[in-house]
Amino acid sequence: MNILEYTKQVKDKVDKYLAGKIAGSLEVKKLYDASYHLIGAGGKRLRPTLVVLGARIVGESEDKVIPAAASVELLHTFSLIHDDIMDRDEFRRGVPTVHKLWGESIAILAGDLLFAKAYEAMLDEEKYGIPLERILAAVKILTWIAITLAEGQTLDIEFVKRTNIGEEEYITMVEKKTAAMFKGSLAIGAILGGGENSIVERLSEFGRLIGIAFQIQDDILGITGDEKTLGKPVYSDLREGKKTIIIVHALNNASEKQRKTILTVLGNKNVTVEELRKVVEIIKSIGSIEYAAKKAKYYTLKALDILNTIPARDNKAKSLLKELATFIIERRY
Ligand code: IPE
Ligand code: IPE
Ligand code: MG
Ligand code: MG
Repeated sequence: MNILEYTKQVKDKVDKYLAGKIAGSLEVKKLYDASYHLIGAGGKRLRPTLVVLGARIVGESEDKVIPAAASVELLHTFSLIHDDIMDRDEFRRGVPTVHKLWGESIAILAGDLLFAKAYEAMLDEEKYGIPLERILAAVKILTWIAITLAEGQTLDIEFVKRTNIGEEEYITMVEKKTAAMFKGSLAIGAILGGGENSIVERLSEFGRLIGIAFQIQDDILGITGDEKTLGKPVYSDLREGKKTIIIVHALNNASEKQRKTILTVLGNKNVTVEELRKVVEIIKSIGSIEYAAKKAKYYTLKALDILNTIPARDNKAKSLLKELATFIIERRY
């Protein structure tokens, strides 16, 4: 089974669990419909896959950590619903965003509900026979992810106003908004599986590194991607003035004239697609997209070096993680 078939298998199990989890009384059907909307629309389920593989590597079975895998997907979906409000994006996973269909108030509440459901799901691990002290440790990680994600999203928004972001600041921002979830997902799986500390730590570091690579690839797809394949808008980062690694590199390496042209487009809501395309050509000529791809590869290779040092109870799980790391920088969606 390859990694894409495996994520599909994890998706089927997690989604079955989630379908039962996101149901409520008729008076508030709207809230539950809005909360389930993105879950039902698709998504890659990479974070649940990390939970399950983290558990398998330390010798636990996949089926015992399905609620935990669902838990991180619930937290992820919460963050997507709120992110789309903040980023003013109109579609994701190939469907209109929650705030587009139900309005901002219900979208905020749907996010809140999923946030709470993430905890409810993690606590369900008790019924799956996982010892309470391991569940407590997993809840602590889940909480750390949620806090870190909020910090990262704040930096993402604060950086919009600035044009002098350095690469280290960018890395700090993505470590928080994206990589924390990858790191935490692997840690949760390995902790619930009873893995020893040194393995949990190395898996966490592997997760942090592939998480950074993942966000860099997301930045690349936000410019070079095909909207249909990607399921979300391209050029939105430029319109919103987001400091992606591509923009950080371009602004720091552009000529005075190029910099001026890029800045007229960044964060400009009235810009035309033609103007955006012109700026993308400038960015390409500076070499910023190639640079980003090189960086993504660098983080992936560093991650694979660490993975190689991890002793696995389940070698198939380890090789699936290896494939996942490569998929992250080769993906087009
Ligand atoms: C999107 O994550 C949010 C980012 C961190 C860039 P994914 O690309 O994993 O989204 P889904 O879950 O597959 O839709
Ligand atoms: C990714 O945010 C991180 C979170 C969603 C928390 P982005 O804004 O970069 O991701 P997309 O491109 O909207 O999925
Ligand atoms: Mg966004
Ligand atoms: Mg965002």
